Amino acid sequence: MQLLDGKATAEAIREELREAVESRKSAGKKIPHLAAILVGSDGGSLTYVNAKVKACDHIGFDSSLIKYEYYVTEEELLNKVHELNNDDNIDGFIVQLPLPDHIDELKVTKAIDPKKDVDGFHPTNLGNMVLSLPGFLPATPAGIMELLKRNNIETSGKDCVIIGRSNIVGTPLSIMLSRNSNPGNCTVTLTHSRTKNLKEIAAKSDIIIAAIGIPGFVTADMVKEGAVIVDVGTTRVSDQSKKSGWALKGDVLFDEVAPKCSYITPVPGGVGPMTIASLMINTLRAMELNGK
Ligand code: GUN
Repeated sequence: MQLLDGKATAEAIREELREAVESRKSAGKKIPHLAAILVGSDGGSLTYVNAKVKACDHIGFDSSLIKYEYYVTEEELLNKVHELNNDDNIDGFIVQLPLPDHIDELKVTKAIDPKKDVDGFHPTNLGNMVLSLPGFLPATPAGIMELLKRNNIETSGKDCVIIGRSNIVGTPLSIMLSRNSNPGNCTVTLTHSRTKNLKEIAAKSDIIIAAIGIPGFVTADMVKEGAVIVDVGTTRVSDQSKKSGWALKGDVLFDEVAPKCSYITPVPGGVGPMTIASLMINTLRAMELNGK
């Protein structure tokens, strides 16, 4: 079994981005600027947004973190989105999800200028992805594709099961892995809560992508010998042995599944750092595409 080391792969990408920033600086060109909007104080969202800002610092991007109280109105949030759309200094921005129930997430996502939508969640970018047209790819699926590519994982002709059909991960990844590309050319089965024979499908698959948000969902009996496993799960579970009182748990029961696999991503240190690396790639591209 080999670890698919997202942390190391993301570090290699960060190094490339650092060099790109340096050469832009020496040419007197603009430095990419990413803004992130965070609403409320959900611990998980705060951790992710802080990690995104930290990644900007490491690479040399400018960043702005805009925080709102949980009870911010939809109108106030939409006004900020419009302001960022029109701010020439901001190359790309994200609104960290989930948003509180009183705010329409789709309305906010649709208000983001697709040219600055570095999360790739806007319907225009998702539509472009389906048609293989240029645009921004959603960060987590794009990060998984990059992880497979940079670690020379063969996907062509393989049977791939994706567990979980979210708009952010499962659904876009099912399209990306099935199209004629490298990585890609998989025969993809997108499974979900109504799938009847999920265990049997998984046990026959060459590649398993677990993106369901249930810690330890994928057990050894669901895994074929030599399978490639990508664990997208990052659920916070109570762990009193940690200073923080919690630990991140993946969707895969790592200890019993790992010995059966050819490759497996750890949690943490697998998909998470790759998501952030993709966001950084998208931000640099946003700036270049906007002619800066
Ligand atoms: N919530 C969980 N993942 C993501 C992500 O990639 N982007 C944003 N904006 N919110 C998220």
